[in-house]
Amino acid sequence: MEIKLVSPFDAHLHLRDGDLLKTAAPISARAFAGAIAMPNLTPPIASLEAANAYKARILAHCGEPFELVAAIYLTPALAARDLEGVKIVKLYPIGVTTGAESGVTDIDRYDRLFGAMSDRGAILSVHGETNGEVLAREAQFAPIYENLAKRYPRLKIVMEHISSIALVNLLDRYENLFATITLHHLLYTLDDLLGGRLNPHLFCKPIVKTAADRGALRKLAFAAHPKVSFGSDSAPHLRAAKEGASGAAGVFSAPVLLPALAELFEAHSALGALQAFVSDNARRIYGVAPAEKIVTLIKRPTIVPDEIGGVVPLLAGETIAWSLA
Ligand code: NCD
Ligand code: ZN
Repeated sequence: MEIKLVSPFDAHLHLRDGDLLKTAAPISARAFAGAIAMPNLTPPIASLEAANAYKARILAHCGEPFELVAAIYLTPALAARDLEGVKIVKLYPIGVTTGAESGVTDIDRYDRLFGAMSDRGAILSVHGETNGEVLAREAQFAPIYENLAKRYPRLKIVMEHISSIALVNLLDRYENLFATITLHHLLYTLDDLLGGRLNPHLFCKPIVKTAADRGALRKLAFAAHPKVSFGSDSAPHLRAAKEGASGAAGVFSAPVLLPALAELFEAHSALGALQAFVSDNARRIYGVAPAEKIVTLIKRPTIVPDEIGGVVPLLAGETIAWSLA
């Protein structure tokens, strides 16, 4: 049995820099036609110039054509006049995740910028969590999404890596709200992370939640809801950074994404929705047009390596029923 996917696109990807980039870039470029690269490096990718330089560094390691959009990190320095050529601006509330140290403290001060982004059709991508109680952070952010959606009705706002019913419920309430969903939030709940022995390799922001939350996400994904793109949020950290006494947030899912999605969608009789979920929706929502790339998945087991370039991938050591041809 075979599935052919046309130009899979990863709408939320951390590729890092330096040695980790060398590891991560070819893995995504092999399986995907393109991606949106997240800007949370140190220092952040906070201007078009920095984004173009980062894109060139990424492409140098891809080994094949890869349609890249590098998101720009929203800092107080970003002004309306800097938006020329910018497609996506990423908003991190300060301190909410890896690399969010330069994030936003006061969303209201960006009124002019968001107005200008609306005029230019630039997309606002948001890590929608507060600094509140860990399980409530997304729900607490919901009113902030609502305010943004109402105040800037022409601004396309992407609720990144949604993980809870609270945000699923917002999606259809505002025309200008969109979302990405990861593989790990479709696969796991808190029980997998810490219900038995602690699995630091499932620790990410936003944290995986309850079975009910996961069920709501699955419903969107298996129906390829037209306002939802697949965004892996694959975020490699070296093993030592994940397994130490203070574990970094981020799941390195890039090596397993399409086979694991095929396995999950097949198990839920949803393979018919996979093409729209991993490609068509993103191409439409973001207006990206990667060169056509046919990626074939075969029903043949993949054994996931224990470690890749010093990073433990998602599903390490496990077998997935599907493989990349
Ligand atoms: C991401 C990372 O490591 O860059 N970590 C994560 O837990 N998802 C940042 C992010 O997207 O929150
Ligand atoms: Zn991310």
